[in-house]
Amino acid sequence: MAELGFEVIGVDVDPQKVAILQRGEVPFYEPGLDEVLASNIAAGRLRFTTSIEEAAAFADIHFTCVGTPQLAGAQRADMTQVFGSIEALAPHLRPGALVVGKSTVPVGTANVIAERLAKIAAPGVEVAWNPEFLREGFAVEDTLRPDRLVVGVRSQRAEDLLREVYAPLLAIGTPFLVTDFPTAELVKVAANSFLATKISFINAMAEVCEAAGADVAQLAEAIGYDPRIGHRFLSAGVGFGGGCLPKDIRAFMARAGEIGAEEALTFLREVDQINLRRRSHTVDLALATLGGSFAGKGVTVLGAAFKPNSDDVRDSPALDIAVSIDNAGARVKVHDPKALANAARVYPNMTYEQDVMSALKGADLIIHVTEWTEYRELDPQEVAKVVNSRHIIDGRNTLDPAAWRKAGFTYRALGRPNA
Ligand code: UGA
Repeated sequence: MAELGFEVIGVDVDPQKVAILQRGEVPFYEPGLDEVLASNIAAGRLRFTTSIEEAAAFADIHFTCVGTPQLAGAQRADMTQVFGSIEALAPHLRPGALVVGKSTVPVGTANVIAERLAKIAAPGVEVAWNPEFLREGFAVEDTLRPDRLVVGVRSQRAEDLLREVYAPLLAIGTPFLVTDFPTAELVKVAANSFLATKISFINAMAEVCEAAGADVAQLAEAIGYDPRIGHRFLSAGVGFGGGCLPKDIRAFMARAGEIGAEEALTFLREVDQINLRRRSHTVDLALATLGGSFAGKGVTVLGAAFKPNSDDVRDSPALDIAVSIDNAGARVKVHDPKALANAARVYPNMTYEQDVMSALKGADLIIHVTEWTEYRELDPQEVAKVVNSRHIIDGRNTLDPAAWRKAGFTYRALGRPNA
């Protein structure tokens, strides 16, 4: 918003995070965000506070961007932060303020918030729902050049305000869709469910390819030339993770059950199962490669983040696989260019290596699970000199099988038994 020219206050309940941001530093890894942050702070358009009163007194429009993680021990979303932020903000809002929800929420939430604000906020306070579709690693680009803007509104005034907010993006031709609340809420979970389904589809094909002796990478390339199918999100491998796709499909199923549409989404259970099976299959493949026992074997896991260009390890297939093999008795070493601090916070007892060649030293098996460019650029001949035995599993199908084989490695990939 500051980059679009507005004066912005960012509010968070965590004083440490606010202090870091106020210094112009980003408390997580997101390419390009530090420059945008620093330049807007320097230009005086952006500041941070823990005071919700200050923000309420200052702003006409309030974007709530809090998380909706999976509730512990359940499939549905934990809505504590969404309702908590509304309860904290509501009493301080100026009359006529617009509260714009960005969070991924169970359908029906915007309506509940509108009813609550009508009771406890100043007259004329309104709600709009404006889901975000940004990807980690491309957050700046996706925010400043989105595919589309979706706004769920109940008044012309709310629509006009949001058209004003997004005027620079509308000027560059960004599609702007005006809907009711439930449609806007559903667009977000439908989009993520479709992406998850596409990935699990190709991973299901990988399972069939493994049984049939076929090659899923070639299959994906071939079907992707059909423009109705397309090549994107058709990379078979260890599957999807992160703080969005896995919890969103689960929360969507849970919500569908609550509103009487459970049957419509039973296929998402299968999508989730296919996805999780890729992780256990990789562990099985590792075990088979090592001759049936992990005991005392050195296994180097390349990657901890759920995808490259991110330091996020939430529901990361890479870390899940590393932990399973570590628990099974191997000597696991994990490398990642950015995510080791986060990984160590979640699993403090695993061995982490900052330097990739140190991580590879003495390995009996290498498992490539997050497709950082750095791993594609490894020289298999150099790696061959430091490992104990030459075995590699490519969990993302992005390495060059011929180059690794030439260096004496057995190369195995998911869905490509003969690659
Ligand atoms: C996802 C959506 O792509 C965004 O549009 C959405 O805004 C965001 O969730 C959200 O709900 O906030 P993100 O979680 O950053 O974004 O990551 P993706 O790029 O979607 O990747 C998700 C996972 O799928 C990663 O683990 C990735 O490795 C995996 N993936 C992706 C595959 O296994 N194969 C593919 O072909 C593509």
